Amino acid sequence: MVSPVAQLTTRLAYGATQLSRVAWYVGHGEIMRRLSKRVRERDGETARPKARTDRPVPERRRLFADMAKLFQQDLANVEAGIYPLPADHDGSLFKLLRRSRLFFEDLPNVHRRRESGEKRQVFTDETRGKRPAYYLQNFHFQSGGWLTDDSAQRYDTQVEVLFNGSANAIRRQALVPLHEVFAGRDQRQLKLLDVGCGTGRLIDFIKQIWPRLPVVGLDLSDSYVAEARRHLKRWGWLNLVVAKAETIPLPDASQDAITCVFLFHELPPKVRRQALAEFARVLRPGGRLVLLDSLQYGDEPDYDGMLELFPQNFHEPYYAGYLTEDFPALAMEHGLAHVRDVNAFTGKVMVFDKVERS
Ligand SMILES: C[S@@+](CC[C@H](N)C(=O)[O-])C[C@H]1O[C@@H](n2cnc3c(N)ncnc32)[C@H](O)[C@@H]1O
Repeated sequence: MVSPVAQLTTRLAYGATQLSRVAWYVGHGEIMRRLSKRVRERDGETARPKARTDRPVPERRRLFADMAKLFQQDLANVEAGIYPLPADHDGSLFKLLRRSRLFFEDLPNVHRRRESGEKRQVFTDETRGKRPAYYLQNFHFQSGGWLTDDSAQRYDTQVEVLFNGSANAIRRQALVPLHEVFAGRDQRQLKLLDVGCGTGRLIDFIKQIWPRLPVVGLDLSDSYVAEARRHLKRWGWLNLVVAKAETIPLPDASQDAITCVFLFHELPPKVRRQALAEFARVLRPGGRLVLLDSLQYGDEPDYDGMLELFPQNFHEPYYAGYLTEDFPALAMEHGLAHVRDVNAFTGKVMVFDKVERS
């Protein structure tokens, strides 16, 4: 039984950290919108076709109300003992300001690419053949695609601005289905793989619950893996590798759980299938897969227009296909049984268990 004082302290600490994060990133978004408005006024209408949708688009008020629900759920998870009061580990003020500078400095380049439709700048003689062609694109129109250190250091600010400071809270919803299968077990005897680990934010939260859990983080970007290594250096029992989701360098039936956050909407349909087949191969029978990614059409019908607009404004070549992909059916083809989906603001946690054959 938690005392009222302890409960109040937790709530105050949670509110103080999360509200200041939201204010910081909403502020960035506001400045970004004003800058782009000024550029549009200066340059006039461009030749680029305007993003359009006939589906419903939520108003900002609705988005913020739903975001508040996400934070309430996040706090409820803390109070239920599913995870501790989260530490976002955003770094010092100096680091935050440096990242803000990187973020704002790149906006004119993002704007130029969006207007010109240039999205293959990272497909060069130097990179060709070293990564799959689908990977060598300027996703989100960002400079360097996934390939540079600056991109890796800018990424978390970009994502938090996009989600108004809620990206980490969305990621933490992936911890709930992990807690279900890990609770009461010896963490040192378990194994978890995070695919497309990026800068390691989810792994950080996993380690805050299970510091001794052996974790492998896998990503196709040297720069993002290096950034994850820096971000996660406080934790032991970690192995970060540069590899493809579709050919995972781990033995069959070796993992108790796989997590994969914000990756599948960036993969071509064929690669999504290959990755699911690999997940099924490396999971132990009974092992759990947690896919956290964008909502799809119909999950939150009032958001459908926003989902349709997103890839028109950011370079997301595989997102339209992702929106209609039937993941439960696809996963079942590989012996991964769908357990449930839970919406988390603009994200969705999809849970699957590897079928145990008798
Ligand atoms: C949108 S980011 C998501 C990163 C992270 N999971 C997060 O929570 O923010 C996508 C990441 O997936 C990686 N990626 C893309 N295609 C991949 C593939 N085929 N195999 C492994 N990683 C891949 C990129 O390098 C990038 O770091």
